[in-house]
Amino acid sequence: MGLANEALRSMERDFLELLGRLIALRSISAEPTCAPILAETAEVLRQFLIGCGFSASLHENYGPGPILTAECGPRDAPLSVLLYGHYDVQPPEPMDLWRAEPFALQEFDGTFYGRGIADDKGPMLLMLWELCKMRPNSSPVRTVVLLEGGEEVGSPGFADFLRAQRSQLAANATLIVDSGCPDNGIPALTTGLRGIISFEIHLRTGERELHSGFGGCIPNAVQELVKLCGRLHEESGRVAVPNFYENVAMPSGEELAAFRSEQERDPIPQKAFAVTYLRNIFPPLLPRSVHALLPSLEFHGISGGYQGPGNKNIIPAEASAKFSIRLVPNQDPEFVRDAVEKFLRKNVPPHVSEMSVHASTPSQSYAIDWTSASPAYITLFRAMEVSLQESFSAKPLHLREGGSIGVVGAFKEILGIDSILVGVVPPSSNIHGPNENWQIDTMKKAQRALASFREIF
Ligand code: BES
Ligand code: MN
Ligand code: MN
Repeated sequence: MGLANEALRSMERDFLELLGRLIALRSISAEPTCAPILAETAEVLRQFLIGCGFSASLHENYGPGPILTAECGPRDAPLSVLLYGHYDVQPPEPMDLWRAEPFALQEFDGTFYGRGIADDKGPMLLMLWELCKMRPNSSPVRTVVLLEGGEEVGSPGFADFLRAQRSQLAANATLIVDSGCPDNGIPALTTGLRGIISFEIHLRTGERELHSGFGGCIPNAVQELVKLCGRLHEESGRVAVPNFYENVAMPSGEELAAFRSEQERDPIPQKAFAVTYLRNIFPPLLPRSVHALLPSLEFHGISGGYQGPGNKNIIPAEASAKFSIRLVPNQDPEFVRDAVEKFLRKNVPPHVSEMSVHASTPSQSYAIDWTSASPAYITLFRAMEVSLQESFSAKPLHLREGGSIGVVGAFKEILGIDSILVGVVPPSSNIHGPNENWQIDTMKKAQRALASFREIF
């Protein structure tokens, strides 16, 4: 790693060393063989927190990796903050699209690269460094840390853990540095997240694949699957499932204004996503706001048949697809899940001999409800707002986001706590994709914001 960059040189060596260690750990929660690495990552973080003067422990059997809890400060403190983050990452594939090894911290032209650098190892470590390592000894604020290794697979078991540990986890607010911002230099305070339900469908048209010389009279699993998948959207791009948009609340005037000013700042938002156009499926809204304000249905992958080198002339007998739906506040997740399942069953093409549909348990959507938020939460939110504004010299935008963090709804529902979601990762960071990165200058600004937030500690 070259140390030419001025920002990099001034960054603490110990911090970069630990960040490098975390990035090097292949903590992929979707990959069962990574379980020992998830445990190792949790242990590295536990040791770090012990070194910060926290008491820390690991809790097994609540997900693919241990849940880590740590705490410092008096139990009866007048103010308490729960710091949440996730140490698991998404798979790196396809490998050939990376410019360098994903599980090694690398720097090119003032930007760090590596799987998890932006989601969420980099932002998470920054938060822990500034608020735990640099925490003043005499701080009257109670600080609770809660880290998990299963966020990227929907946090299975996490809600059970929250229910079991409710009393230890009480706090005035959770702080989460794991959200998006419109661009480098423009921070966000995320005011809502979408919920998510993941689906997997598998269908079969025959007992075994056949020579395609029989083609013409034999049902083809790939063709039938593609037909079925195609029925889920209208030509306009809207989801075709009846009642899919039921109960979706119109955004507030303040929210629409925030997105409008975002559109004025960045009139060609498609550039940030490296696509040539953004579809507008609901013209009263701006295309750039649709991902935050409306539910959606996206395919992640379709498989079936032959995709190897050369040809293999067969008629596939089975095929499968993975997709998920994102939900916004006010929607009833079970109702929408049932509506999608019913639609699939009703539209399954004839000649499909077998179809299975698997739907995950829903992750709740979230939106800050200012009318019920506690004064302590609002104080902490404003302190973060001032800190971000000072450090970035830009007012943090209040925007809902299209992504999901399964536990945020559970924090509200089970612990009754609202979340402060700090967005310091722009679309160009390419989280979940190849060449995941975080601009060092943005990282330094986020660090300064967290350091100034620490002043209330
Ligand atoms: N940090 C992201 C969520 C996110 C992304 C929030 C961009 C705001 C802006 C998180 O790690 C994530 O990827 N969540 C998954 C959740 C799913 C697996 C249940 C997601 O959104 O797909
Ligand atoms: Mn994340
Ligand atoms: Mn993620």
